[in-house]
Amino acid sequence: MTYQEACKKLEEAGQFHVLKHYDSLTEKQKKNLLADIELTDFTVLSYLEKREELMKKGVITPLAAMEISEIEKSRDWFEELGYRAIRQGKVGTVLLAGGMGTRLGSEEPKGMYDIGLTKPVYIFERILSNLLDVVRKASAWIHLFIMTSDKNHDATVAFLAAHDYFGYKPGYIHFFRQEMAPASDYSGRVYMEGPDKIANSPNGNGGWYSSMANGKILEIVKNRGIEWLNVFAVDNVLQRMADPCFVGATIARGCSCGAKVVKKNAPDEKVGVMCLEDGRPSIVEYYDLTDELMNAKNEKGEPAYYFGAILNYLFEVRALEETISRKLPLHIVEKKIPYMDDNGNFVKPDKPNGYKYETLVLDMVHMMDSCLPFEVDRHYEFAPIKNMTGIDSVETARVLCQENGIEL
Ligand code: UTP
Repeated sequence: MTYQEACKKLEEAGQFHVLKHYDSLTEKQKKNLLADIELTDFTVLSYLEKREELMKKGVITPLAAMEISEIEKSRDWFEELGYRAIRQGKVGTVLLAGGMGTRLGSEEPKGMYDIGLTKPVYIFERILSNLLDVVRKASAWIHLFIMTSDKNHDATVAFLAAHDYFGYKPGYIHFFRQEMAPASDYSGRVYMEGPDKIANSPNGNGGWYSSMANGKILEIVKNRGIEWLNVFAVDNVLQRMADPCFVGATIARGCSCGAKVVKKNAPDEKVGVMCLEDGRPSIVEYYDLTDELMNAKNEKGEPAYYFGAILNYLFEVRALEETISRKLPLHIVEKKIPYMDDNGNFVKPDKPNGYKYETLVLDMVHMMDSCLPFEVDRHYEFAPIKNMTGIDSVETARVLCQENGIEL
């Protein structure tokens, strides 16, 4: 992109300040900045004006989950169906590892974090070990697609290679990068990360399917006959993926999607809850849950919105294909954004200072015709690591790992 073209693009986007220091840059820095301007999609910033509108929800009604007692009655049958699909190569897994993990505060990708006490136990290691359990029982390898971002791709790839993929077969691991989006201050003015660098960050975990398509990864899915994709988060160290019972139950129910859920431990627990929105499956985020919904009861006298999604979804590839042309809603989220101030100093804020623009995987559930909320026991399957200490932290995850007999 030439300087003139960059000026035009920035003027149209109302972001001309990006070129403020251009004249004082070296030739190399000028080139970097022009390339960055060319790659950056500023159109997301225009959604800031519509933030209120974007947050509007449809009519929320309850969606019953398949509870553990019901699952246990059909476990053998569900597992048989699930193992059959896995052995036929119809199940693939997608690890969402493109996030910045800002709350954890580690400089490295979250999956590289060591939760061990007497020996190293990395988050990636825990995840691969859980997947290997299924591989062993099924006697079949399962493709694992790992989403990274520009910020952590090289470190992630190098780390897993250096650890021999923790015993996983390299030919079954495929990396792809998600797209980036600019971050802005509260008025929609993009932040600069350096004199030749716009503050771009990963565009949320909702872009995984379109990024798979852009990165030609989807060809592998199609060529190998994968019909189901189990998408899951990097930060739950007890995460059970390609779970044959979950896969079998979703197939048996004839649903195009399944979501692992847990009973909330408090009405205001910070998890999104399964529901119907205007009659379609959906997830309402904890911050959108009104007091009325939080306290609503069903006919059994239990909370009507009892089941929280734990970021472990199973999607039918055929149903995903139909969604590719549809746009996911944009979430404009307040975050801490490191930036270069007007004097050229790098600032790492300790409280939120602007917005990131993200799409979320949970919104894909609403695009599906049907979804099975599948209950799992939170003590065995839910140990998210968001923070260093306190709720959903390294500390709480360690306790849960130890309760499950995992040596740390
Ligand atoms: P979170 O919403 O917890 O975000 O991600 P995060 O970036 O890891 O952490 P914070 O908010 O900065 O502290 C939930 C899952 O989605 C993935 C994360 O890697 C995690 O597995 N994710 C998130 C992506 O893959 N890409 C993104 O852009 C954001």
